[in-house]
Amino acid sequence: MTDPNQRIAARFQDALVGNYAPQPVALVSGEGCHVVDAAGRRYLDLMAGVSTCALGHCHPKLAAALEAQARKLWHVSNHFFTEPVVRAAELICAHSFAEKVFFGNSGTEANEAALKLARRYHRLRGEDRFEFVAFDRGFHGRTLFALSATGTPAYWEGFEPLVPGFRHVSFGDLDGVKAQLSERTAGILVEPIQGEGGVHLPPPGFLEGLRRLADENGCLLLFDEVQTGLGRTGSLFGYQHFGVTPDILTLAKALGNGLPIGAVATTAEIASALTPGSHGTTLGGNPLATAVAAAVLEELTEGGVLERARATAARLAERLETLPERVPEGRVQAVRGVGFLWGIELSEPARPVIDRCRERGVLVIPAGANVLRLAPPVVLNPEEADAGLDVIEEALGAE
Ligand SMILES: Cc1ncc(COP(=O)(O)O)c(C=O)c1O
Repeated sequence: MTDPNQRIAARFQDALVGNYAPQPVALVSGEGCHVVDAAGRRYLDLMAGVSTCALGHCHPKLAAALEAQARKLWHVSNHFFTEPVVRAAELICAHSFAEKVFFGNSGTEANEAALKLARRYHRLRGEDRFEFVAFDRGFHGRTLFALSATGTPAYWEGFEPLVPGFRHVSFGDLDGVKAQLSERTAGILVEPIQGEGGVHLPPPGFLEGLRRLADENGCLLLFDEVQTGLGRTGSLFGYQHFGVTPDILTLAKALGNGLPIGAVATTAEIASALTPGSHGTTLGGNPLATAVAAAVLEELTEGGVLERARATAARLAERLETLPERVPEGRVQAVRGVGFLWGIELSEPARPVIDRCRERGVLVIPAGANVLRLAPPVVLNPEEADAGLDVIEEALGAE
């Protein structure tokens, strides 16, 4: 076995739990929108570590922030004040509806905290609201509360009983939501765009309708923006793209650009339900992760990234929306997306197409069995977008 990719893959199979099925390359370095495998082969990365490395790989400002913090202080726990966590929280609040932030270490933890917060908010007001409306095909993470919110039963298999109190409704069905709301409802949890479930956009008026129903019912509206946050839609936060403000917003993935971090952002009134000792995490909000998150937020809000991204987003939209015309008829069933999150629904399994893309030097991932997902760094330039789409079209059999 001479290919170093295969050697690392074999060691991986020996040493790691088998819950992942990685593509057969071992990536060793990255810069901007490209990564390099153990054999020195370079790839254009159109999946960004699953919607995570929005600013590309090893961004110099983020690397500098990480290195500077790594030489100063890594971790002291939330038993002490530190400045990077304050900076990261201030930046989220300055650029969103939020007034308070809680930091965890991942998306699922952010959702876990958000769901707990919603229940406790009502409890402290004397209301017995503990149920949630969530959506079929939705994805919120793998810890048990977030898994119970997740609307794809395949992910539940073998882990039941789930946390009680979730009512799943078809994404887009406002009447269905209304029918499930009661005086026991704590909140409605939704991804503004369903990512893992196949990249589904909300039908027009759906998010506005959820806002209205939550207000009428007296429950909270929670947006899971673990995937849509931090520039993926072209706006800093997905809720800004759609013009509907939630009560609680969860973030992760691109917030650390690859360094583990998650966050719950909310109003001061709702946040007041998490009193000292009510919730916590040892590593959440640690100086290393929050120094990087602050640098990410600064770069996204002050670095002109989102302004520059407009040209690439327009190129992606223009080419992807017309993609079905250029590939053999019937092969592409639908193309859905916005900004830097796109799903190409195929009439066949996505895996072989993903393999053909990788063999041609482009990395993409599935979102469900038949959907090819593109979630490139938002720093992708129009020429890189074209190069990537040329390969995808070729892999789909375009002439
Ligand atoms: C919308 C959404 N929520 C939550 C999660 C879970 O995040 P994590 O894998 O960081 O726990 C994901 C992960 O893909 C996601 O897309």
